[in-house]
Formats: sequence, C-alpha cells, structure tokens
Amino acid sequence: MKTSLNLKRIFHPSGGLVYHFTAMRYGRSAWKPFRDQVAVWLNSWRTPPSQLVIVGPSGGYCLNKEFLKRFESIVLVETDPIAPWMFRMRHSLRKGCLTDRCNYFLPKDSETSQGGLDLFFDRYKNSAILFSNVIGQLSYEEPYVKDPDFFLDLLEELKGFLDQHPCWLSFHDSLSSKTRFQLASDSVSLEPGESPESLLQQIRFDATPTGTEVEIMDHDTSQMFENFVRHYGVWHLTPLQHHLIECVIR
Ligand SMILES: C[S@@+](CC[C@H](N)C(=O)[O-])C[C@H]1O[C@@H](n2cnc3c(N)ncnc32)[C@H](O)[C@@H]1O
Repeated sequence: MKTSLNLKRIFHPSGGLVYHFTAMRYGRSAWKPFRDQVAVWLNSWRTPPSQLVIVGPSGGYCLNKEFLKRFESIVLVETDPIAPWMFRMRHSLRKGCLTDRCNYFLPKDSETSQGGLDLFFDRYKNSAILFSNVIGQLSYEEPYVKDPDFFLDLLEELKGFLDQHPCWLSFHDSLSSKTRFQLASDSVSLEPGESPESLLQQIRFDATPTGTEVEIMDHDTSQMFENFVRHYGVWHLTPLQHHLIECVIR
C-alpha cells in the first residue's frame, strides 16, 4: 500500500525525518567544512547547462545555490516524500524543478516494468547526473539488507551504466566510524588503479579510551571506481558519526 510505503520512507535509515532533523541541527555548523568541500568538487565538474538530475537530494543540505543556478531544469530522484518539498523551499526553486519518485535501484517490477537502472539511464541519457551521497546508502534497501551479495551485483550493474554515461558526479560513503577522524591533508586523492588500502594511512583518528579499538564500517563502494581519480573529504555528520566521503567526477 502506498501510505505504508511512504511512511517507511519517512523513517528510512538512509534519509527521512531523522536526516532532516540532523541537517537542521548540524547543517550550518558542524557540516560547514564538508559543504565547502562538496562546493569545490561541484565547481570543478563541467556540465551542459540543460538538465541536472539529482539522485538522493534530500533537502539539498550539502548543495549550494550557485551550482544549482547553472541548470535550466532540475529533476529530483528521491524516495523520501518530504525531501523534494524541503529541497524546493531551501533553494527557493519553484519552476523547472520536477520530482521523480521511482526507485530505480530495486529490481524492475515484473507487473508494471517500472524501475531498473536501464530505465533510469535511458530516461536521463541527455542529462548531467549527480549521485548526491546516495550510492553508499543503497545497501539499506530491503533486498540488499537481506542479501548483501545482491547489493554488490547492483553496484556492478551501476558501474556498467556509468561507463556509458558521459556526464556524472558521485559523492558517497566510503568508510564511517563512531570515532572522530581527520585526513592527513586537505586534498587527499587516489590515482586510477591505486589501491584504497593506502587511504587508511591518510586517516588520523582521535585517541580512544585505553583498551577500546577504533571500529570502521566499510560501505562497500571502494572497488567500484578504481579506474577513476578519487577525491576524499570528511563529513562529521554528528558528534558520534564520522564519514569518509569519496567523490568521483566524469
Ligand atoms: C545521505 S542522504 C543525501 C544527502 C543530501 N544529498 C544532502 O545534500 O543533504 C541520502 C538520500 O538518498 C535518498 N535515497 C535513498 N535510497 C534512494 C533510492 N533508491 N532512490 C532515490 N533516493 C534514495 C534518501 O531518501 C536520502 O534523502
């Protein structure tokens, strides 16, 4: 039923109300260095001026108005029913901003033929596509929670489509930890083919109480973009949740 589906999305671990409240609490303060970092990445992305498709925009808390102004029209591909409304309000967008609620990352619906990555890339073949901190969150979708191998297959399929699409940028979770960390320098990146293992040497964790170990969660995205230059930044999401974010630009 549609209502229960929407309710699920409002309380979904990858977005929804908890995320909106966290953004209101920390978006302007603790997130500022990360928002600045995202602005630098977006600024260096060369895009045609026509249509931007943002996948996982939420309220656009990490995106800046200058960047959005580049485009004649914007499509928000978002499963959280509140998010597009928040996005339009925050960025003062009324005209030229459409919403697409289809979940393209689930297997195609056998009855309606809706969904599926082939439909997504066909529908938006002439657009610049911004995956806005969503690829590392897709493992929260039900079929992938139940079967993580299925998620790795999805990433493999997505990689195939991205190889064909001419203009996209993705910033997404690489690692996360409850222990606060920083990077060794302001611009950490990996060259094509360079192993993500070397990244760990660039991470400086705060001291932990004696006897406790730093726990790191891997978001399974590190193999996906090995053939690209990858840039890294730190997002202090809350005082207890810290993310290493990877950005890849085409
Ligand atoms: C971490 S938030 C993104 C943050 C956002 N880009 C910002 O600027 O604050 C992840 C977003 O992806 C959305 N999302 C999760 N799975 C999705 C899917 N399968 N299709 C589209 N959006 C999805 C969530 O609803 C959530 O709004």
